[in-house]
This record gives sequence, C-alpha cells and structure tokens, in this order.
Amino acid sequence: MKQSVKLIAGNWKMHGLSSALSEAQALKDAVAASQPACRVALCPPATLTDRMSRTLSGGGVELGGQDCHEKVTGAFTGSVSAEMLADAGATLVILGHSERRAAYGETDADIAAKVEAAIAAGLEPIICVGETLEQREAGEAVAVVSAQVAGSLPDGLSERDFAVAYEPVWAIGTGLTPTLEQIAEVHAAVRAAMVKRLGETARPAPILYGGSVKPDNAAEILATAEVGGALVGGASLKAEDFLKIVNAA
Ligand code: PGA
Repeated sequence: MKQSVKLIAGNWKMHGLSSALSEAQALKDAVAASQPACRVALCPPATLTDRMSRTLSGGGVELGGQDCHEKVTGAFTGSVSAEMLADAGATLVILGHSERRAAYGETDADIAAKVEAAIAAGLEPIICVGETLEQREAGEAVAVVSAQVAGSLPDGLSERDFAVAYEPVWAIGTGLTPTLEQIAEVHAAVRAAMVKRLGETARPAPILYGGSVKPDNAAEILATAEVGGALVGGASLKAEDFLKIVNAA
C-alpha cells in the first residue's frame, strides 16, 4: 500500500487533442527539474493514452485512464477495458467520477465491479465519492459519502494500492470549495468508512480532495488533516498551473 507520499492527479476529462501532448511534455520536464515530494499523474482522454505514455516514458509523471468497463473484452461498443488502458501504458484509473455517476447512471455496484476489473488488470483505482449540494444542505454529506465508500469498494481491495477521492459535486468546476473544516470532517468519515469496509489494512490508502483545486488554494487544502493528495480538473490542463499545485503538496 502506497501511503507516505501525496498523489496529485490531473483529470483532463473530455479535453485534449494531439497538440495537448506538449503540456504533458512540459509537466514531465518540470517534474524532472523540481523533483517534487509527491506522486504526479495525468489522466487524459482514452485517445491520448498511448501517445501520452510515450511522452511520459522514463519520467516522473504517472498515467491514468478516466473510466474503464467492468469486462475484459466483449460486445460493448464505445467502451474501453482496464486491460486496454494498461496495454496503452496506464497504471491508474479514475472510477466513479460524479460526472459518470450523474450522466451515465453508474451505481456503487457498477463502480465496485469496475474497481475489480481495474485491479485484475494491475491498475491502481482512484475511486470517487461526493455529495450533491442538495445533500449537503440537507445535512447528509457524511452519510452519503460513507455509503458510497461502503458500496464502491470491493472485497480484497485492501491488499492492493488504491485511493479514494472526495469530490463534492457542487465544488467541481464551479470555483466553490468546502471549508477546510468540512474537508477534514468528510475525509475523516471516508477513512472510517474505508476501515469499516475493508479492515485496518486499508487505513493507509490516500484520500484525495477534488473540486476546484487551484494554484491559490492548493497549499491549504493539501495541508488539511487526512488529505492525501488532490484530483484536479480544470487546473491540470496547463502544465504551468498544475505544477504550482504539485509544488504545493
Ligand atoms: P475541477 O474538477 O478541478 O475542474 O473542479 C475536478 C474533478 O472533476 O475531478
């Protein structure tokens, strides 16, 4: 279980053509020069995985996918399997992002099946959880997130490297962030739910925060109790911005 260093992962979502590989190259060069204390990863769209793995090869930036199918192969038009991501050079995969839960109706059980597929392919899953604004305003944030952790983490995960990302839905792409106290409260609840679900061996797994992490708020968020890294959307698209977050870890 990797635990001692923070993980800063960039989620490019549906952004990035060939020309964006120059940002990955710039990040690789900057990471080589600054030797940050944290792990750094980029999760580009599936179409860039193979080429980005060549760009990043031999450097200090890891590569991830943004989703995978739960099956290895089959008649699933448009889908990408965990094995395919691994074959293209990925070592991580984001699963259960709230955009997939909302837009594609992914349930906790779907996500747990994908996590099992990722593990079988040797990928390190980053499993996302987070409450909506409505749920937070109803005082349900901790209960919702705890239930998502209980339902999305399959048996046997504790023996493997994985991370959970707490991403309040209302903070994603909005410029809004929870208070540091709210982040600490939910991260503590995620830790407790993880240990309850998988046992003490799961305790060291890092819990990333995601949702409007920017160069100017990264340091305080990353210094908050139980925050083991960040999942960064918009601010990961430009190497210059992302590097400032990496250097804040
Ligand atoms: P954001 O996205 O940093 O653009 O808010 C985070 C995410 O969705 O992972």
